[in-house]
Order: sequence, then C-alpha cells, then structure tokens
Amino acid sequence: MSLTMESRVTLNDGNKMPVLGLGMWQAGSGKETRKAVAYALEIGYRLFDTAKLYGNERDLGAAVRESGIPREEIFVTTKLWNNDHGYESALRAFEKSRRELGLDYVDLYLIHWPVPGLRQESWKALQKIRDQGLARSVGVSNYTIRHLEELLPSTAIPPAVNQVEFHPFLYQRPLLEFSESKRIQLEAYSPLTRGHRLDHPVITQVAAKYGRTPAQVLIRWSLQHGLVVIPKSIRPDRIRENGGVFDFELKREDMARLDSLDESSHVAWNPEDLP
Ligand SMILES: NC(=O)c1ccc[n+]([C@@H]2O[C@H](COP(=O)([O-])OP(=O)(O)OC[C@H]3O[C@@H](n4cnc5c(N)ncnc54)[C@H](OP(=O)(O)O)[C@@H]3O)[C@@H](O)[C@H]2O)c1
Repeated sequence: MSLTMESRVTLNDGNKMPVLGLGMWQAGSGKETRKAVAYALEIGYRLFDTAKLYGNERDLGAAVRESGIPREEIFVTTKLWNNDHGYESALRAFEKSRRELGLDYVDLYLIHWPVPGLRQESWKALQKIRDQGLARSVGVSNYTIRHLEELLPSTAIPPAVNQVEFHPFLYQRPLLEFSESKRIQLEAYSPLTRGHRLDHPVITQVAAKYGRTPAQVLIRWSLQHGLVVIPKSIRPDRIRENGGVFDFELKREDMARLDSLDESSHVAWNPEDLP
C-alpha cells in the first residue's frame, strides 16, 4: 500500500478527498486555529474538519485564504448542528457556515448527528445544497447501520461520507463492511482516542517495533483499514508527528493485534441509542 500525504480517495460522487486531515474540535477560535491551520497547510495537510459547533469556521476560512494555496487543492468539511435540523433551517445553517468560512463553496457538508425526527428533511436540504454546487459533496456523521438503512432507500443521492468514532478500541467492523458495500467512505474521528489510550501496552509495543509513536500507529491503523483520518492537534510538533505516517506500513500480524483490542468502547457519545 503506497499511501502518501497527497493520496486521495474517490468518493461515490466522483470527488476526491485527502486521506489525512486536521481535526478541529476544541481548536480555540482566533490565533490558535489560524496558526494550527497555517502550519498544517505549510507541511502538506489539505483536509480540514470543522463544524458550526466548534466555533472556528471563520478562522479556518481566513487561514485557507491567507495561505495563497489554490482553493481547489484544499478540502474543507463543516457540519449541520443538532438544533438546525429541518429543511429550511438546514439551508439557513449551511449558508451561515459558508459565510463564516468566507468560501464560495464547501467541499463536504455533513449532518453532524442523526437527530431523531427531522434528519430526513435535513438530508433533502443537503441534496439541494449539493445540486446548487455550494457543497461539492454531502454526507453524514455518527450514522449507524440502522440510520443508513433508513436513509438509503429514500434518497437518489447516497451520502458520500460517514464520519464516525473509529480506533482499535472501537473497531466498527460491521459498519466498515456495510459502508464499503454501499460505497460510503468511512472517516475516523477521535482516531487517537483523544489521547486516553495511547499508553496501552499493545500500542506501545507495536510503536516500539516500528520506531514510531503510539499516535502514529493509531493513525496508520485507520488508514490501512481504508478510512480517511482526522487527528486533532493545535501543537506544531504533534501536527507534524501525526502527518508522519506515510513512510512505514503495519504488517498483517500487527494490524490483527490492534484489531483484537476492540471492546466497542467510545470516548465520544454513542449514537447507537438514537432512535
Ligand atoms: N462528527 C463528530 O461527531 C465528531 C466527534 C469528535 C471529533 N470529531 C472530529 O474528529 C477530530 C479528531 O477527534 P478528537 O479531537 O475527538 O480526538 P483525537 O484526534 O483522537 O485526539 C485529540 C487529542 O489528542 C491530543 N493529541 C494530538 N496529537 C497527539 C499526539 N501525537 N500525541 C499525544 N496526544 C496528541 C490533542 O491535544 P493537542 O491539541 O493539545 O495536541 C487532543 O487532546 C475532531 O477534532 C473533530 O474534527 C468529530
């Protein structure tokens, strides 16, 4: 497998998405976000994952514009927050996010959570936004197989991406296989377990074997499972470290050791209970 920082996956709508990006939850608004994004762009990151909820869309947009890098080389994701569901509300919320970002278009617009009640109406709005070219791709986040089975028969446009929590302690194999069969790209959030499990002995042993850090092993594991991965950091040393995952490959037996850590445990919320 010869992945590089420039590698992109082709989504089911034909658009291409970088395989590694910068997560932006809890990246503080203002300088903190601007500096992190500018540094990440400088060292080759081209995918940025924000949301209305994160409060840093404006700073992400500013850093993208100030970089001087052609817009079409950069992939920007933002998301519809839970209290903006419904057809008209979703259209309004998208326009607000787009203006905050100060961009002509967003590369990917996601339904952040499968909020019961209005999510099907919201999806209709996302299709319209895509038809208008204001979001190049549209998708969902935190959708389980059950939520996807509700959505897919009712739409001509399947979600291009489903962004979910994914790491060895939550190796969502059935969801991964389902997504592959429907050509929905799975994207890994909290790929570093938010830092909570980096000292697990299996992870540190594998890291030592390859002369890598635990964070690099976790990112590489998700990449080798075919996911797009978005580790978050605001620290330049860690942004660089997390991007240094393209010059080694985990062997089959080490992938299997990491796979076996699965305990279906979440560091974020569990969407399984959402009706
Ligand atoms: N769709 C959703 O519902 C959803 C939910 C959660 C997250 N997300 C997205 O996914 C992104 C990533 O998930 P996440 O932020 O929850 O967790 P994460 O990427 O697993 O972990 C981030 C945490 O790990 C630290 N960290 C980063 N690199 C490190 C390294 N090399 N060594 C040790 N610690 C390191 C960060 O601190 P520093 O910043 O101080 O380095 C931060 O505290 C989010 O930022 C967001 O964009 C989406």
